[in-house]
Amino acid sequence: VIPVIAIDGPSASGKGTVAQRVAHVLGYHYLDSGAIYRIAALAALQRGINWQDETALVHMVHDLDIRFSQGEIYLNGAIITEAIRTEEISRGASEVAVHPALRRALLSLQQGFRQLPGLVADGRDMATVVFPDAQTKIFLTASAEIRAERRYKQLMEKGIHANLAEILQDLQARDARDSQRSAAPLLQSANARLLETSQLSIDQAVQAILEYSRS
Ligand code: CDP
Repeated sequence: VIPVIAIDGPSASGKGTVAQRVAHVLGYHYLDSGAIYRIAALAALQRGINWQDETALVHMVHDLDIRFSQGEIYLNGAIITEAIRTEEISRGASEVAVHPALRRALLSLQQGFRQLPGLVADGRDMATVVFPDAQTKIFLTASAEIRAERRYKQLMEKGIHANLAEILQDLQARDARDSQRSAAPLLQSANARLLETSQLSIDQAVQAILEYSRS
């Protein structure tokens, strides 16, 4: 079987950065499953499909040609790497992600990333739904305050003015939506290792996952 390291966790927990580094060290493929939901939200917006319209969203999935290549993300040939990172699309992604039929329609697309020599996948339901047989399962988290500070610093570094209290509020609202929805709510898989990163650097988190994956 092709090895999978499944990393789940809440918004701004740093799982994207950590997962990419682990994939790089091992020479594995990397799946950013959040990007898939973001792409679904963007594609719907472009086609005039409502984020609440589950049936239309499910139909739409069949004509999405998604490719990740050299740091860029392509949707039907167009580069959409930056376009899926806006606030509007962040909200859209979490709105489309509540639909069970859409989640099912996106399942095989995500599972298709499991290729030799292996895959590191990050998201909300990698260990619970998409790759339940993953060899390594990690639940990566940090306190809401620490996650808000990390996002704040990220925005400041990009020269974007932000308000820490607003970021914290937004994160807490998103945590609530992600963990309370009925379809694939964010939860720690029974056999996942908890990695609390409030006091860990990115490198320390990467090392912890590498060690755990070898044991
Ligand atoms: O880290 P952040 O929440 O900002 O974004 P993301 O990881 O790109 O995920 C975008 C949205 O997709 C989130 O609001 C999640 O609710 C949803 N998502 C999901 O439902 N299942 C996944 N496997 C990944 C993301």
